[in-house]
Amino acid sequence: MQEQPEKKRFEFFNQEPEKNLKTIEAMAKEFEAILGKCDSQKATEDLFSDYLGKKGILNQAFQTVTQFHAETKALLGAKLNFEKQRLTDLLKSKQQSLQQELLDQELKKDWFDITLDGPFSKKGAIHPVTHIQYLLVDIFQGLGFEIMDGSEIETDYYNFEALNFPKHHPARDAQDTFYLENNLLLRTQTSNIQIRAMEKYPPPFQIAGPGKVFRAERIDAGHSSVFHQFEGMMVGKNISIAHMIFCLHSAMNGIFQRKVETRIRPGYFPFVEPGLELDIRCLICQGKGCNACKQVGWLELLGCGLTHPRVLELGGIDPEIYSGFAFGMGMDRMAMLKFGIHDIRLLATGNLNFAKQFIGLAG
Ligand code: PHE
Repeated sequence: MQEQPEKKRFEFFNQEPEKNLKTIEAMAKEFEAILGKCDSQKATEDLFSDYLGKKGILNQAFQTVTQFHAETKALLGAKLNFEKQRLTDLLKSKQQSLQQELLDQELKKDWFDITLDGPFSKKGAIHPVTHIQYLLVDIFQGLGFEIMDGSEIETDYYNFEALNFPKHHPARDAQDTFYLENNLLLRTQTSNIQIRAMEKYPPPFQIAGPGKVFRAERIDAGHSSVFHQFEGMMVGKNISIAHMIFCLHSAMNGIFQRKVETRIRPGYFPFVEPGLELDIRCLICQGKGCNACKQVGWLELLGCGLTHPRVLELGGIDPEIYSGFAFGMGMDRMAMLKFGIHDIRLLATGNLNFAKQFIGLAG
């Protein structure tokens, strides 16, 4: 508690208005001096009762003054009223600022930096497949492709029929899947995005999209029943294989950031004609043969080709005027090649020791 200035005795004299006014001013000054030193609500309350309360100095002054000569009484009464109001206001605003200080102190005590790492926080990492996906999205956006989404639960029409896999066609065998009720299934390929794109956009357009796909696979080091693809399609006038190869090489360069050996060979997909496959020299065994490449030294990375005229027609596009290409690549395979992961199953185990190796991977 601060030491308070000693209170003076304030005396009033009849017939001496000037002197009395000075006394009132001195009284107010004293009040202000004490107020300046108040450092708690309690101190302000004490000050209130000492000066402004019922038995306070100001009320005592009022009582004295009422006994004075009428003119003096009026003059001093007005001055006292004026000061009473002024001092009350000063006291209130002091109380408010003390309250605010208290609040600020409380806030300071409770404040903590929410951006700081907690004591047990561990830095997360981008999953290698997500890393490939982000790279591909960047690369194809850079080439002017719009990124589209497609649903994982799909109708037979969008997954097969519209892609020129008629019912009971043997090509469906290689893409057996998990069937749901109401003619729905888990999509086996991201190629369903192609159909949605043709329905959505008139040519020319170019779209790409990543996604999860599902197949009834025999699981081994190179195959999983859930994996990830990245689809692309370009439709316009005079679109040729040359456009496709340019885009695919851009993608390979962007992903592996080193010279990789590729080969293109015929491949069959009912929705492209000609259909092609792009293989990459196995970066795990350098082509000598290992489990990941099934001892052949090459890994199939993607299927591609020029869109089959029938598929364009089903998408409402005139194949006499427009042509297009499409590709679908396995992102898990690409992650495996890029990081030397020898078994696709590692990507889905949730094993922390495995995941920790990728801390710091660009997102
Ligand atoms: N959808 C095919 C698959 O999953 C890949 C592909 C896409 C082939 C586009 C050609 C064109 O095997």
